[in-house]
Amino acid sequence: MRGISARAPGKFDRVRFLITAGPTREPIDPVRYLSNRSSGKMGYAIAEAALEAGHEVVLISGPVDVTRPRGAAVIAVSTSDEMFAAVGQHSLRCDILVMCAAVADYKPAKVSKSKIKKRGENISLELIPTRDILASLPKDRQYLVVGFAAETENVEANAQKKLRDKNCDIVVANDVSRADFGMESDENEVTILFRDGEIKKISRALKTIVARELVKIFVNVCEKGLTKKNGR
Ligand code: CTP
Repeated sequence: MRGISARAPGKFDRVRFLITAGPTREPIDPVRYLSNRSSGKMGYAIAEAALEAGHEVVLISGPVDVTRPRGAAVIAVSTSDEMFAAVGQHSLRCDILVMCAAVADYKPAKVSKSKIKKRGENISLELIPTRDILASLPKDRQYLVVGFAAETENVEANAQKKLRDKNCDIVVANDVSRADFGMESDENEVTILFRDGEIKKISRALKTIVARELVKIFVNVCEKGLTKKNGR
């Protein structure tokens, strides 16, 4: 992060959050799609916590069944391409981008215009990579970038690699192989990795509690980024 030019030093009582949440849906034909188990609860909890702390929130949401946070501007998207476009548009005026969404990594190479009919034989679906939203962000951006890492093994090492490869300021890693917390659950336990090598853990708690801690951490790092730029 290279500092936030549009904000006066020390004024972090109202930070502009841009948060993505939930899964994306990649259409196969008019009635079918590829998606994942993300519930959107973590992203929505971060949005709620940021609003509660007096910040401004734009929430770009994939299809989820979670109550819309009061006071947030919600932009509903479905596909990874729609989410990519929405992030491109709204990141122009944010201070902190939190990429909590579980964006699909692949989409069908062709979307059939008509419903694919059942035949008594195997069929194959050709998949092509989606665009990586985080990895496509400009290098000279003016906002803090928080990525999430959903891992089933080697959580810290894989998250560290995502932090570097996707040029994030912070990565929040969670173990999605656990049945008792994480994906679809109301609870989570996360490891937070910072660009300078620092690591923090938030032990298992309700996602609402984890979200409050995360918002404090993000605002704090955002403030330090500005402070550093201004040489204070
Ligand atoms: N992400 C993204 N665009 C994609 C895929 C992922 O911006 N097309 C973001 C997610 O929102 C998240 C981070 O990248 O903040 C890591 O996502 P994750 O699913 O954990 O990792 P992947 O990069 O998809 O890698 P893998 O599935 O191999 O672990």
